[in-house]
Order: sequence, then structure tokens, then C-alpha cells
Amino acid sequence: MSTHIGAEHGQIASHVLMPGDPLRARWIAETFLEDPQQYNDVRGMLGYTGTYKGVRISAQGSGMGQPSMAIYAQELFEQYDVQTIIRVGTCGGVSDAVKVRDVVLGVAASTDSAMNRSRFGNVTFAPAADFDLLRIAADVAEERTMPLAAGGLFSSDQFYNPDREIVPNLARYGILGVEMEAAALYTLGAQFGRRALSICTVSDHLLTGEETSALERQESFSDMMELALETIVR
Ligand code: ADE
Repeated sequence: MSTHIGAEHGQIASHVLMPGDPLRARWIAETFLEDPQQYNDVRGMLGYTGTYKGVRISAQGSGMGQPSMAIYAQELFEQYDVQTIIRVGTCGGVSDAVKVRDVVLGVAASTDSAMNRSRFGNVTFAPAADFDLLRIAADVAEERTMPLAAGGLFSSDQFYNPDREIVPNLARYGILGVEMEAAALYTLGAQFGRRALSICTVSDHLLTGEETSALERQESFSDMMELALETIVR
């Protein structure tokens, strides 16, 4: 086992879906995977492995924020030889190019986090999605005529950020949604030379104040899950 994941080598699949909420990992496993087996409950950060259309896939909670995502993504890449991580989460819309319930493919992730300063000093690294994975997800979405937007994410360290003044500027520079994990995932994907992508449904909108109901969130999450699973098996 690794420090935060209580699985033996081989219990985790090469391809991992990562929701922030560990209970979502359980829901993904029970709803979409055949014969799901739980491999982790350390700190309640549930992880499961099963199959989808014959392909072994794991669902592992990441927790909230970049420090938590970075712990799990690093252990998955480094200690369990994971090749692909797709984050499946929610984001707040910051651009009028997206509306609630839309699915956003995160091409790149800007951030207000200082985490990468210790890696790059004065250089501002640009964490980006794996291009092949992004292209496959865009193709799958197009074939399914899913409402989809591809653009920048903003991985914020603060959910309750009192400073909303930057939102119009984020939108002007092509950022579609704010969330809290993608930049760390993309940085670790680059570090380990593995495939990483963040797919988010827009759960609330910072410009319009619109929010999704619990039922709408569940339905749009299901659409996004099918997109993520089909992207992996393609
Ligand atoms: N995830 C979903 N909505 C969000 C928001 N408004 N800010 C940060 N992360 C989010």
C-alpha cells in the first residue's frame, strides 16, 4: 500500500476516474462498473475497481483542493503505475460561453495556488490536459451531440473567494469555469508523463447566480460519466 491508499499493487486499474467526493466514487462504481471491488477506505477516501465494456477502470475520490488531489494523483501515478486519470467534477461557470449543466473539457488550468513555485521558481508553468485524451473526449461528445465547451479552467485555492473582480478578466482570457483541482492533476500528469484530463459539469454560474438542483446535478453528472468512460475505452 502507499501512504494514503490501502491497495496492493495490481488492485488499481491503469485508468482511473477521480471525482472530488469519495461517495461519488462509490456511486460511479455501483452505477457504471461491473463487479466493483472496494480497495481503499483510508481516511474515507473510497476507491473501487471494476470493468466497463470489458476494460478495467478504477474510481477514486480525490478530496477537495490541489493539495489533496496532488497526494492521490502522485501515489496513483508513482506507486500504482496508473496511466490515465480523468477528473470528473463540477465547476462554477465564469463565462457567458457556458451555462449550468454544460460539460466543460479543461484544455488548461490557470491557478492562484503557489504549489508550483517550488518546482519552477520564477517560471509560471502552464498545466495542460493530455492532447490525445482531450481529442478523444471531444470526438465522443460530438458523436453523442452533447452540449460541450472546451477551454480554460481556473483552479482556485478558495471556494469562498471574496474577490469576484477577477471573474470578467478570467472570461476574457478564455476561462470557462472555476474549480479546485485540475492544475495539480495536469502538473502531475506532466511530471510522470501520463495522461490527465479534467471534465466538469457547470453546477453554478458566477455571472448569473444560477444554480443546479440536486436532480439536475445528478443527471448532468451521469452524462459526463458516460463521456469519461467512453473516452477511456475508445
Ligand atoms: N466547483 C463548483 N462550483 C465551484 C465554484 N463556484 N468555485 C470553486 N469550485 C467550484
